[in-house]
Formats: sequence, C-alpha cells, structure tokens
Amino acid sequence: MSSNPELGVCYYPEHWPQDLWISDAENMVKTGIKWVRIAEFAWSRIEKSPDNFDFEWLDKIVDILGKAGLKIVMCTPTATPPKWLVDQMPDMVAVDSNGQPRKFGSRRHYSFSHSGYLEQSKRITKILAQRYGDNPYVQAWQTDNEYGCHETTYSWCHSSLKEFRIWLKKKYSSIEKLNESWGNVFWSMEYNNFEEIELPNLTVTEANPSHNFNFQLFSSDQVRKFNLAQVEIINKYSPGRPVSHNYMGHFTEFDHREVSQDLEIAAWDSYPLGFLQNMQVIAREDKKLLQECYRIGDPDFQAYHHDLYRGMGRLWVMEQQPGPVNWAKYNPIPVKGAVRLWSWEAFAHDAEVVSYFRWRQAPYAQEQMHAGLMYRDNTPAPGQEEAKQVSEEIKKIEMPKTEQSPIALVHDYEACWMTELDGQTHDFHYTRLLLDFYKAVRMNGGSLDIVGKNADFTGYKLVIIPSFVHFQEEDLQRVIKSGAQILAGPRTGTKTPDFQLPNELSLEGLGFQVRRVDALPRDLPVSVEWNGIKGNFSVWREHGLTSGVSEGKSSDDMAVLTSGNQGSYLCGWPDQKLLNAIMKNQMQLAGLDVVELPEYLRVRRRGNLLFFTNYGTQDVSIPEVYQGELLLGKRTLSQADISILKIN
Ligand code: GAL
Repeated sequence: MSSNPELGVCYYPEHWPQDLWISDAENMVKTGIKWVRIAEFAWSRIEKSPDNFDFEWLDKIVDILGKAGLKIVMCTPTATPPKWLVDQMPDMVAVDSNGQPRKFGSRRHYSFSHSGYLEQSKRITKILAQRYGDNPYVQAWQTDNEYGCHETTYSWCHSSLKEFRIWLKKKYSSIEKLNESWGNVFWSMEYNNFEEIELPNLTVTEANPSHNFNFQLFSSDQVRKFNLAQVEIINKYSPGRPVSHNYMGHFTEFDHREVSQDLEIAAWDSYPLGFLQNMQVIAREDKKLLQECYRIGDPDFQAYHHDLYRGMGRLWVMEQQPGPVNWAKYNPIPVKGAVRLWSWEAFAHDAEVVSYFRWRQAPYAQEQMHAGLMYRDNTPAPGQEEAKQVSEEIKKIEMPKTEQSPIALVHDYEACWMTELDGQTHDFHYTRLLLDFYKAVRMNGGSLDIVGKNADFTGYKLVIIPSFVHFQEEDLQRVIKSGAQILAGPRTGTKTPDFQLPNELSLEGLGFQVRRVDALPRDLPVSVEWNGIKGNFSVWREHGLTSGVSEGKSSDDMAVLTSGNQGSYLCGWPDQKLLNAIMKNQMQLAGLDVVELPEYLRVRRRGNLLFFTNYGTQDVSIPEVYQGELLLGKRTLSQADISILKIN
C-alpha cells in the first residue's frame, strides 16, 4: 500500500496583511489542505537591497502555517531577481533571438549562462537553506519556478556565447570533428577554431540544423546546471527533504528527464483549459474537441503529462487550475466538477500531492483576473468547495501502488528537437503526435507508462516508439530483448545521433526502408485504407521499399503499415480513428485486453482500482466488461464525474 495522496495550495503571504495569516492557515486546514508552497517570487521582500535581509515576516508565516499543522514547500525565489540585482549586473538578462535584451518588469529575466547570476542564485539559495533547512515545518523544496516559461530557455547573450564555445570544445575536442559532424563544408561554413563560432540566430536564412540542435542541447544543459547548483546546496543544508521543480505542460525546450535526475519530485503545473486552447492554436484546429471540452479540457492531455512526469520522479501537481486563468487566448470558467475531476485524474495517475494555484485571487498586477480558492474579498470561490470534497473523498479510499503498465510509449526530448528543427512541414508537432498515440491506447481502454529510451523494457507487452528519429539499432535491440510487440511511428530511425541522414533510412527488422518524404499541411491529407478502414495520413508520410509484410494502401499505392521480423512500422501520421484501429490491433497482437471506450470516457488502472473519468457533455456508462465494487461515483457518469471501481 502506498500512502494516500494529499492536497496543497500555493500561497503568497507577502500579498496580504499579516492579520489575515492566521485565519488563512485555519481555512486551509478546514479545506483539507496539507501542504503550502511559499516564497517563489518573494526575493524583493526577503532582500530589499544588497545584504539587507528581512526574514521576520517569512519566519512568522512559516511558524503560523506549521503550528496550524501544515507542511511547507519552501521555494528559492530565483525566477524573480529584484531590480537592484539587475541594475548591479545589467548583462544578466536574457537576450532574445533578435538580439534584444529582455527587460525587467515581469519575471524570468535572466540568462541561465550568466556566471554572476548563477552565483547570486547559489547565494540566496544558501541563505534560505541555512535558515529553513532543518525547520520542522519545511518538508520539501522547490527550485525556482517553471524553467523556460515565457521563452526563457534560450538566451542569445554574450554569456551564452562564451559558455557555448566552451561546451562545444568539450564535446568535440577538435574543430575538425565539429566541422565534419555538422557538415560545415556545405555553404563554406567551416570554422578554424571554436572562437569563431557564433550563436545560431540572425543568420540570413536558416542556420545549419546541427548548429541549432547543438545550441538546443547546450541550452538544456545550462538549465540542468543551474538547477543542480541549487539542489546541491539544499541537499547539504536540508537533508532528507525532497527537492522538486514545477515543470509545465506542453513544453519541451529542455530535457526534463535529465533535470529530473537531480530531483526527487517531478512536479508539474496543470492548467487544462489554457492548455486546450494553446495546444489547438499550435498543433491542430479541432473545433469539435475545442467546443465540447471548452470548459473541461482535453481528456488525455493531463493524463499524458502525469504519465510523462511520473516516469521521471515522484509525481506532484504543484499548481492545479482552480477556476478561470488569465493567460490563454480565452479564459472560460471551468464546468462544475472540473476542479475535482482534474484532482482525481492526477491521483489516478499516482500523484502524491495536488496543490491548487492559488489560495486567494490577487487584487493587483498581472494575474488579478486569475482565480484562486478564495475570492479577493476573502469569501470562498467555487474551486474551494470542490477541493474540500476531494479532501474528504481521498480519506476514504485506500490507494494501491501502481504497477508497471503493460504498454510503454517511448518519449525523447532530443527526438522532439530533431523532428521540429527539420522543418519540412510546419505542422509536425512532436507532442501532438505522441498525444495521438497516447490517445489511441486510452481510447482502447489501456493504461500506459511513458518512458525514455534507457528504460528497462522487461515486462512490457507492447512498446510504442513514435518518431524517435535517431533511434539506433542498439536501442531497438534492447526493446526486442523484452519480447514485446513493437510499433514504431513515422520517422523512427531516420537520422544519425549527429543529425545527419544515415546510409539506410530505416531500422532493419521493421520491414520498411524510407526513400522519400511527403511533408504536408495538416489540412491536405492523403487517403489510405487499412483493414477495410478508410482514413488518411496527413502532415508526414513516407514513400519507400517494403521488405516485410505490407498492410493497407494509400491512394498513391504506398504501404500504410509494414511488419518485419522484429516489429511494425507505420509509414505516416494517421488520423485518430485510423490510429485507434491500428492500435487496437497492436494491443490484441500483444495479447492485451481491448475495450473501445466512448469518445470522452477514459479509464486508468492503478493497482486493483480502475478510475473512470467523463470529459464529455453527455452521460456515459461504464462498459459492462468492467465489473467490481464501486468505491466512488456511479456506473453512469455525467460530465466531469469520476468513478472508482475496485476489481479483484
Ligand atoms: C504558472 C506559474 C504561476 C502562475 C500561473 C498562472 O505558469 O508558475 O506563477 O503564473 O501560471 O496560471
């Protein structure tokens, strides 16, 4: 048995008069809150001017919260360096790709590569860790806040350039190797030494993709380095307290799997309505989904991220949308029950804590239109009632440990960067593709793990590898050893780790060799037929030579799916209905049970519990094949309902 999950809240005592603090703590306890996250943006209140500290207020609130029985997540405030610090080191700010310095006046205005800022970040972390490291009420830490948010992973500043050259020298050791690996003979881009290399912005036309790719790898490493510096200090002064960072949804600019190696908790911030809108804008115009799930979010988006991050550490949702937000294109009110549904969805996926953002709506500044669990006038907002309900419900349900799922989906940040840097079609969006595969499993009643390529594949029955462009023969052999059924998606194995075209554009054993690529806009699909099902490929499809068994045909006579002696290969990006059918077949071939679920009903298995969620507007019943004892909810779910079934 694992321990039961808990609720938390993000709290900004520095925004409120001190005479509210005690009643805030009491009301949090009444709501069933156990964790309170504080201080991530409070640097200007902690250190008003250089070395002029005020800890009285922070000591006081730590004491109030702790004495009320609440556990504290203490944050380092490095996402918001104060003005005096920026004025001391004006070149610490990040520079955008147009060469413009980013100004003070919001947040995240620093370059990960600035050594002076790195020292400042270590200094303030040490001061906080020394002061609160062994405070009994401080039970966990968070480093910084949402690395990379507001396009801040990259900085085209002088410090980045300096560090990038050092990083390249370390990686390639000789300039000849770099030239060869990047193919710099093309367009006379050869360098004579590392000092000649610039950052890949402001080039006349596109920069060499290898140049871009390496800047991406470098920028990701800079995030890890920055984070690790804080983690080491916290671990030293606050041993035994787990350290987290709050990642984002739909965000791939640095390798979270790498950063997570230095953290215990892989937390993320879940804003289902904002994500639904943003994901639509970037990746697909699905008017039906947008309209039908407008007030509740995509039925798979949150689940996907829970599975993604729980593969990297102990899963927390550090910020959970509690009502309307302020930052999406449109910001609707969630349907009644959605806040409860989102919380339960996280617990179904193993989250240890769901923490709402924020306690009370701010009366001023950038986020005054963002809901909290309390209205600005200190009366409860609707989200609070739902949080309270969840806190009562989780007490009653014994949560089992999740076992390994029978299905693994292989996800990789470098593959994501390569697919997106390659251009070819503007509509190729790695997260969108993976989400389609993920959805296809879920719509067939499956639960799955999202893993990196170095995972132990033992025990999996089906391993799905969508668009892992530089997947190597050795990687494939490791998966094959597990004996799992293998389904690779388009582009898999079509690049070298150096971002070049290999001699053979394919992995042996999947029955297909790519010869050329038909890269399309999403709204110009090519029709295909597979197993009597008519559908289409869009965005990406491949023409090539089939060496294995070929299934299906496109209107221009190319294979839809091929199977070699080691696995199957999908030669394009299918529409969702076709992908669901192909996935169903793959699951059956792997010996797994399949239950085709109604459009907006999903199920997730955690130990002997099945969690059903309804994201649709219509009532929907749990299919008859699922039998067991109902621990929560009913067999017919209305919109935003959750039901838990205990199976034997
Ligand atoms: C998150 C961020 C919070 C707050 C929130 C609003 O991205 O971490 O500080 O801005 O969004 O939804």
